[in-house]
Amino acid sequence: MKFFVDTADTAEIAELAETGLLDGVTTNPSLIHKSGRDFMEVTKEICGLVDGPVSAEVVALDHAGMMREAEILRKIADNVCIKVPLTIDGLKTCKKLTGDGSMVNVTLCFSANQALLAAKAGATFVSPFVGRHDDNGFDGMELIEDIRLIYDNYDFSTEILVASIRHPVHVLESARIGADVATMPPAVIRNLFKHVLTEKGIEAFLADWEKTGQSI
Ligand code: E4P
Repeated sequence: MKFFVDTADTAEIAELAETGLLDGVTTNPSLIHKSGRDFMEVTKEICGLVDGPVSAEVVALDHAGMMREAEILRKIADNVCIKVPLTIDGLKTCKKLTGDGSMVNVTLCFSANQALLAAKAGATFVSPFVGRHDDNGFDGMELIEDIRLIYDNYDFSTEILVASIRHPVHVLESARIGADVATMPPAVIRNLFKHVLTEKGIEAFLADWEKTGQSI
């Protein structure tokens, strides 16, 4: 499973990229706002920090406007992935852009039928938002299971990019189901490394090592 980080904070991205475990980045207008940075400038910087796809979202709602914005965004770098909303205009744009060889992430997916449409539109990634789904009383992971089943039934190559992840259990469940990508806030990625027994174990080993009086 690929790991993407869901942030526009370049310091966080650079630090996580150093682990060698980061496969891409997703941003959205809210994350750009949170960064306080210029959209074009920060997106270009992020594209230089990772080799994998960096999702940059259009804000136009009509097909012509989305195409105009996508033209600007795809010139930023080769690893830019244009993010479009799951609407009729968004999917029209997706079809056109992927036909031209650009990567497209179809975002704000909340149903398996929407995911089916995204795959038919040739999306590179579809982003079902599990956390927001859970927040509204639906089962986010059930949605991922349904999408996996449908994509496998028809051999769709669209990758399931699990988004709106809130905690490590979402990541575990996504991996069990066979989702292709998980995009996570930096804190969730860091939490994946942690286990109280790992920390306790290191502490005990170091205490005993000190008693040996040796050094390596
Ligand atoms: C995905 O691409 C989105 O940027 C993100 O996962 C949304 O997450 P949120 O529901 O925590 O805002």
